[in-house]
Amino acid sequence: MADKKIIAVVGATGAQGGGLVRAILADPAGGFAVRAITRDPNSASAKALAAAGAEVVQGDAHDLDSLTRAFQGAYGAYCVTFFWNHFSVETEQNEARNMAQAAKAAGLKHVVWSTLEDTRKYVPLTDDRMPTLQGHYKVPHFDGKGDSDKFFADAGVPTTYLLASFYWDNFIHFGSGPKKGPDGAYALTLPIGHAKMAGVAAEDIGGVAYGILKTGPSLAGARIGVAGEHLTGDEMAAALGKALGNTVRYNEVEPAVYRSFGFPGADDLGNMFQFYRDFESVCNTTRDVARSRQLHPALKSFDAWLAVNASKIPLD
Ligand SMILES: NC(=O)c1ccc[n+]([C@@H]2O[C@H](COP(=O)([O-])OP(=O)(O)OC[C@H]3O[C@@H](n4cnc5c(N)ncnc54)[C@H](OP(=O)(O)O)[C@@H]3O)[C@@H](O)[C@H]2O)c1
Repeated sequence: MADKKIIAVVGATGAQGGGLVRAILADPAGGFAVRAITRDPNSASAKALAAAGAEVVQGDAHDLDSLTRAFQGAYGAYCVTFFWNHFSVETEQNEARNMAQAAKAAGLKHVVWSTLEDTRKYVPLTDDRMPTLQGHYKVPHFDGKGDSDKFFADAGVPTTYLLASFYWDNFIHFGSGPKKGPDGAYALTLPIGHAKMAGVAAEDIGGVAYGILKTGPSLAGARIGVAGEHLTGDEMAAALGKALGNTVRYNEVEPAVYRSFGFPGADDLGNMFQFYRDFESVCNTTRDVARSRQLHPALKSFDAWLAVNASKIPLD
């Protein structure tokens, strides 16, 4: 372990960070060791990471000192923030600022920062094609991350900007999967028109991050999107139907209809899907599938993800 480069992973018990922890542990000859950061080293998921071979340390994104301690002595870090825990851009930006400052204080050689586009560069607040949310944002959970890029750049931390895409796992955990309609048929409801949307197996985000860290600080400053496939609503519905052994149709709705669904974050997600729809080329050029696969050869297509995960998708 002493001669290995330590990667400190924020969000290690979660989807993105967990994928990176497992990618590093699966490659013992790769020259890297992993330090999993968790708020609670005694939780079952933290103990499972320790049992799998990770060093586990305490750290909280809202506590700069704890993060600085957790980054100390590491070579690099994976930084991800937790918008859906609080729905606050200001809180998320505080998390990102703390990570950048801790990375600077610890003198890290390479950081991968999980960001997204600041959509206001494409849809200014004066553009009324989608509503402005929380007074300052178009897609709050994108804009706050994009705006936080400056914390890493201004601190002079060698940072690769990783842009994730829509997790297919949302069909399992986030309630985004097919729903039975009044006619008894299953429908996948999304406001993406006929655009191809970038999607990914959440686990593969960590795999791509590992590819970036193995490539090294020559990728500092690069913006690298992650996608397993770009698919239309019709294509996702057809693949889901095949894997589930049920007919699933794509139920295209307008973003305004999606925003009105009323669940927490529906307005943010409605604007996000509209961004994927209206800026299809921008989103998919950034999230290049071939580049993702080059960095992570085991990258899954949607069919490959479904082959493992379709049985976990809740159907009512
Ligand atoms: N869902 C999507 O399709 C999608 C797509 C692109 C980007 N994203 C972004 O992904 C981010 C979330 O990443 P994820 O999906 O990997 O998260 P996740 O699976 O929800 O897990 C996050 C982990 O982070 C830890 N955590 C939470 N608050 C923390 C804090 N204050 N300090 C330190 N650790 C904390 C928790 O671990 P402990 O309990 O062990 O501390 C948790 O296990 C969000 O910002 C979201 O916008 C999501």
